[in-house]
Amino acid sequence: MASVLSVRDLAVGYGKEPLLEEISFEVPRGEVFAILGGSGCGKSTLLRTLVGLQEPLAGRVHFRGIGGPDKAMTPPRFGVLFQSAALLGSWTLLQNVLLPLRKWTDLPLDAATVVALARLRLVGLDQAAHQLPAEVSGGMKKRAGIARALALDPPILFLDEPSAGLDPVTAAGLDELIVTLARTLGVTIVLVSHELPSILRTTDQCIMLDRAAGGIIARGAPRELAERSPDPRVQAFFHRTTLPPS
Ligand SMILES: Nc1ncnc2c1ncn2[C@@H]1O[C@H](COP(=O)(O)OP(=O)(O)O)[C@@H](O)[C@H]1O
Ligand SMILES: [Mg+2]
Repeated sequence: MASVLSVRDLAVGYGKEPLLEEISFEVPRGEVFAILGGSGCGKSTLLRTLVGLQEPLAGRVHFRGIGGPDKAMTPPRFGVLFQSAALLGSWTLLQNVLLPLRKWTDLPLDAATVVALARLRLVGLDQAAHQLPAEVSGGMKKRAGIARALALDPPILFLDEPSAGLDPVTAAGLDELIVTLARTLGVTIVLVSHELPSILRTTDQCIMLDRAAGGIIARGAPRELAERSPDPRVQAFFHRTTLPPS
């Protein structure tokens, strides 16, 4: 299967001491790929390194067919929803989605507005286009963040804990949206998560990170890992148990 993102021997962290080392994986085109692991193990750090906001301490990140992350003034080739879905609070959802279109394209305002409204419709928010972030629910804010990340029609979407802090019903709706984007639009999705139900509903392949191990401790389809992995750390994650004291 053609991979769209290839990561080789990556080390990430702050200063000289890597948080995670020898990270290698491939993300197949059109799949939902998850980066799993407990709180503080370095998932967001890895994601920021993948999208080029942080320098790797070693190794490389290669995007096939769409170029790599670079600092040149070219439009981003991927969409990102950060953990703190930062929408501009004094702007409507529509204005937030318009932002990347105004920044990176020459579309006149009325044409850009048509595109932005189409993105809002895609995430089920066309009725809320003229509302401010403070006027909508947490789930709707996340959807608006996804609409903004999709504004430039990127082939890859990175999502950092999209369903964290949402109630289970809202989170399930967001999971459905993620699956729809991958299955019907062919968007490749790289998802950071520690929400078990979301992972089992959305994810094709995953890697599991561990802080103490300083890298990947397991990889594969989530259900396979849950059922077959002999690793007690993997079992603890998937079955919400605590590890025996070592
Ligand atoms: N800007 C930073 N400078 C130094 N250390 C950081 C910075 N951001 C995060 N860290 C540390 O790196 C570790 C991993 O953080 P993070 O990648 O956010 O983990 P996760 O997303 O898995 O919860 C944590 O111990 C955190 O305190
Ligand atoms: Mg994080």
